[in-house]
Amino acid sequence: MVSSIIVHGGAKTISKDKARANTAGCMAAVQAGWSILTGGGNAKDAVEAAIRVLEDNPTFNASIGATLDSDGEVFLDAAIMEGKTYGWGGVAAVQKVRHPISVARKIMENKSMLLVSKGAEQFAAERGDEMCAPSELISDEQRREWEEQEAVLDRPATVGCVALDDNGLLVAGTSTGGLANQPPGRVGDSALVGCGLYADNNLGACSTTGDGESIIPVVLAKTAIDFLVENRHPQQAAQMAIDKLASQVKGEAGCILLDHQGQVGWAYNSQDMAVAYMTAKMDKIAVFTKK
Ligand code: GLY
Repeated sequence: MVSSIIVHGGAKTISKDKARANTAGCMAAVQAGWSILTGGGNAKDAVEAAIRVLEDNPTFNASIGATLDSDGEVFLDAAIMEGKTYGWGGVAAVQKVRHPISVARKIMENKSMLLVSKGAEQFAAERGDEMCAPSELISDEQRREWEEQEAVLDRPATVGCVALDDNGLLVAGTSTGGLANQPPGRVGDSALVGCGLYADNNLGACSTTGDGESIIPVVLAKTAIDFLVENRHPQQAAQMAIDKLASQVKGEAGCILLDHQGQVGWAYNSQDMAVAYMTAKMDKIAVFTKK
């Protein structure tokens, strides 16, 4: 077993002028998580730290720079799960929280549940999480695209991270602003255990990205984990999960996967996907916008 970390910045179309921002953002997230793992920290801390970096970066659709719904507002979803006790926590449809992944982590440490809207914001405020005005999450680029209702090919997408620490703990996390122009009240897959993320220390852990309406009916994260049986390599399992999605429903999706040994897999059926990873067997971070 080797400690490992993998992050994604979403399954999407990445235009040439945004490729560098995507790779730099994913590398910074891996660095944040990897320094925790190599410093003796656990996979929960590593996943939270990596996703906080992605949430701070307007290149991605999570917290700052998230896409706007049809009313021109930002609503955020996030969840985290660990594979030893199957503990998990999630938030959905929150507006006043700066780092939804950290609120999800606190819920997981308290009692596994999914908190939405005002209840999640109240939980966050009571525990001293960083709060913000909803308008602080809206980037100039997302505001302009919404106001002009531009047909944009390379919108930002969901972020996620999976890590395995020295003690064999597997953790997955996912954070998103949902879909651009989504109807008010819509919640996608990202905060749903089994769909947007899953972790099982006996097999592996997975974070997904893409169209929630396609990911949910194929329970994409759990499907990818289930394909890890009989020591199947995570690369093959990830591809099988995306192939299953593509054969059963329409829509774009991607997934990142670690198995319980720290082997890496990822697959997608969108045009591009931003991914970076590092393991104890590597001497530098691998980073991609395409396979
Ligand atoms: N995968 C993000 C969403 O559908 O909301």
